[in-house]
Amino acid sequence: MSFDLVLFGGTGDLTWRKLMPALFQAMRHHQLPPGGRILAVARDERSDDEYRAFIRERFAEVEASKRPSEAEFADFARMLHYRRMDLSHPQDYAGLKAWLAERGADVAVLYLATSPHLFPVICEQLGQAGLNGPGVRVVLEKPLGHDLASAQQINRVVRSVFAEEQAFRIDHYLGKPAVQNLMALRFGNALFEPLWRRESIANIQITLAEGMGVGTRGDYYDRTGALRDMVQNHALQLLTMIAMEPPPSNDADAIRDEKLKVLKSLKPFSADSVARDVVRGQYRAGNVGGQPVKGYLEEAKVPAGSRCETFVALRTEVQNWRWAGVPFYLRTGKRLAAHDSQIVVTFREVPHPIFPGTRRANKLVIKLQPEDGLELHLLAAKGSGAAGLHGEMLTPVSLDLDFDKAFASERIGAYERLLMDAISGRLNLFVRSDEQEQAWRWVEPVLDAWANDPSGPRPYSAGGWGPAAASALVARDGCAWAEEQ
Ligand code: BG6
Repeated sequence: MSFDLVLFGGTGDLTWRKLMPALFQAMRHHQLPPGGRILAVARDERSDDEYRAFIRERFAEVEASKRPSEAEFADFARMLHYRRMDLSHPQDYAGLKAWLAERGADVAVLYLATSPHLFPVICEQLGQAGLNGPGVRVVLEKPLGHDLASAQQINRVVRSVFAEEQAFRIDHYLGKPAVQNLMALRFGNALFEPLWRRESIANIQITLAEGMGVGTRGDYYDRTGALRDMVQNHALQLLTMIAMEPPPSNDADAIRDEKLKVLKSLKPFSADSVARDVVRGQYRAGNVGGQPVKGYLEEAKVPAGSRCETFVALRTEVQNWRWAGVPFYLRTGKRLAAHDSQIVVTFREVPHPIFPGTRRANKLVIKLQPEDGLELHLLAAKGSGAAGLHGEMLTPVSLDLDFDKAFASERIGAYERLLMDAISGRLNLFVRSDEQEQAWRWVEPVLDAWANDPSGPRPYSAGGWGPAAASALVARDGCAWAEEQ
């Protein structure tokens, strides 16, 4: 199968930080169908060679193991092309169409790595130029809108030009190996399914913690905040993967139908429940990994007195028969103690302990970052003394599966996975418009309540785990976050 991949936003951060390294890795791993072309599109004038030199330089900022050698880059560069386009000029789309037609590849993947306010104009122009035929796929980067109305508006335009099965809405968390492991764990094994319900599970925590601050993205971030940046998409997508019913098949829509049902079952927020069940925070100066770091308000391009949240913790429930009453805690933040993301499924304790002093719940930990893996926490007997087995001999142990080590040669990164899926037309790991809109519907009351609440985000020191109120939120149910246990 031959392909052309067009990257709108071809000189932007996302392109050189994530997409080019992922495409290069895909080439290295022999995943890219041979003979494909990659066309970067942006506003300024440059030649193919100038663009190649620009990307070559940017690779210096990519982690060392993912940088190409001279020879590898030469191979990669042969695929790279550049085209200047004004995104509102029909003649530029006609030129793009002619460029694509020259070769007539089986598939043209049009990746919109631009600011989302450009999505409608790009899609309309693509439609008018007839660049929406059956071989065309459009990839839309997040954030898709900043609330329900704007997401619906973008989706209306996308749907007026492309069929739903041509629209690949990216949530790069779905491309992470841990998410595939989760699907394999739940639906490739019979072991956990009987336990995967309220009768056996006490609570579920999803933590997406970052040590980094907002860096140079202060202006984008300040318009966005942690709820829109991480919860509406990444955290909720992980929650759907955990809570969904087994789908009838591995087809994209079978999976997405089940995920949508979970989103529709989430307990809706009211102004009162936002005050009780949602904590927002903003980092102050502190230390991360032994280095002093600035507070959010001192970051570049952050307006004075900003009330933007850089941390969110919340409690919700999935209101259906499987999960009724089980708390789901979501937490995400910047400038936390570590880049450490995981899902912790805590099982109920034994109903009648015969070893006094050993009440301890089993846990399944699905690790996303820094490495992906799986841990099962159990109690085991250390040995047996003269007095036979008794409480003090039981000790916590964990069965630890390090997937990074076990499958190192076969592991591919999130963007690599998703780009290859878009090229080959697999929609399983992309978000359908109704899922995305339902996620906005659910977070909107939180945004509204915050807009009307003068108290603003709670301060927390960089390098910690967020405001103390986040611990109190789970302590109310007799729980604690993983690092507090
Ligand atoms: C992006 C957010 O979607 O995800 C960023 O916009 C965040 O703010 C990033 O840093 C985190 O992704 P990862 O894969 O590094 O955990």
